[in-house]
Amino acid sequence: MFELQIPNGDAELDAVYERGRNVIPGGVCSSTRFNKAWGRGVYASKAKGARFWDLGGREFLDMSMSHGATLLGHKHPSLQQVFQTAWELGGLCSLDTPFHIELAEELCRMIPCGERVRFTGSGSEATLHALRLCRAVSGRDKIIRFHGHFHGYHELTYIGGHPPADQLDAQPPYRESAGIPESLAELIIALPYNDAEALESAILRHKDDVGTILIEPVDYNCGCILPEPGFLEFARKLADTHGMLLFFDEIQSFAKKSPGGAQADFGVTPDICTIGKSLGAGLPLSAIIGRAELMDRYAPLGNVAHSGTFNAPLTSMLSGLAFVREIKTDGFWRIMESLGDQLFRGLDEIAERSPIPVRFQRHGCRFGIIFGTRDPVTNYRQSLCHDKQTMIEFCRQTTERGVYFHDYGGGACHHGYSLAHTADDIDRILNVTDDSLQAMC
Ligand SMILES: Cc1ncc(COP(=O)(O)O)c(C=O)c1O
Repeated sequence: MFELQIPNGDAELDAVYERGRNVIPGGVCSSTRFNKAWGRGVYASKAKGARFWDLGGREFLDMSMSHGATLLGHKHPSLQQVFQTAWELGGLCSLDTPFHIELAEELCRMIPCGERVRFTGSGSEATLHALRLCRAVSGRDKIIRFHGHFHGYHELTYIGGHPPADQLDAQPPYRESAGIPESLAELIIALPYNDAEALESAILRHKDDVGTILIEPVDYNCGCILPEPGFLEFARKLADTHGMLLFFDEIQSFAKKSPGGAQADFGVTPDICTIGKSLGAGLPLSAIIGRAELMDRYAPLGNVAHSGTFNAPLTSMLSGLAFVREIKTDGFWRIMESLGDQLFRGLDEIAERSPIPVRFQRHGCRFGIIFGTRDPVTNYRQSLCHDKQTMIEFCRQTTERGVYFHDYGGGACHHGYSLAHTADDIDRILNVTDDSLQAMC
């Protein structure tokens, strides 16, 4: 009934792209899907395990894994049961079930700050609704956030995250898209990450207006910058002292190193967090998770609105359950750790002998590639040394050799493997990375 038309030869493939561009801006349904290294989007025909095939029939070992969403691998067998069960139950759109409760219970057990859960679709939706709650609870509109962190594309947070070098200290902070009103930027205070002094002094200056400290605890969206020892603890202490809420955006960091996310990995518990990406095992699912006292401010108990026709569809609930059941097993983490040890040992060796300065930074199964330095990168300013053109060339070289790193427009972002990758796959990734760097000199 739904037959994917596979183009026959380059001319037909080009024609598909032309059709795409005629009806979809840039031919892609998400702007970052446009691949600068290829000069067009990546149209796919199928995916399985650690691989996907493009519309031209080329096979790729996948080092994007849906930006971290398909951590179990593509076409994980549990998904077949998800679709089958949802079908048998009639789809059930806009209605809750005991599966919703079970998944919320599982997450409350796993996530340190978890006492209540509300599900959303995308991560952007989750941060938007969580921030509304934070503002309602704290009674203060201003938000402290950090350079290099990403919290979704909406008007509340696409401000001050990735400013150009000459806009780092701009106030109101740099707006990352046209169309975002300046009045919203005035509600944001953007600071360097890992700078305790800057955080304390901003809090002292704005303590009557700031209600929320928003942190992407592992800054995957800037090449994987880790919190310096003591920084998260200090943010926790300042939030407590000044009656602010500590909000960890763990859309990406959830379940990358352990089931409890970065808050478990670093031992600092926020008041509220958002999780997403891998939670849905490839289906759209994110969640807002926090202390009961806050979360019970959502209507119908309180006066904070959070509703949506497509909140928590049954398929996403079931795939979320499939995912948490998997990450509860020791076997999952044993495999992930062993693949990680092999990959990161190899990448460090490659970085050492690479003629092009490059640094790989990791947390759990995802890592950043930063060109232009061999030294640790601990904040956004340092990451500005990253050379975007080199990144794009690296992606071109690796995809030519059958390994897909997403180029993020050349930005230092994040890449990673899944449960479906094997030790042989990792060897191949290392060889291709090495060969590509050598070929780029
Ligand atoms: C930390 C963080 N927050 C929010 C988002 C937005 O999530 P989504 O792309 O599902 O809207 C992302 C996505 O990359 C993210 O990494």
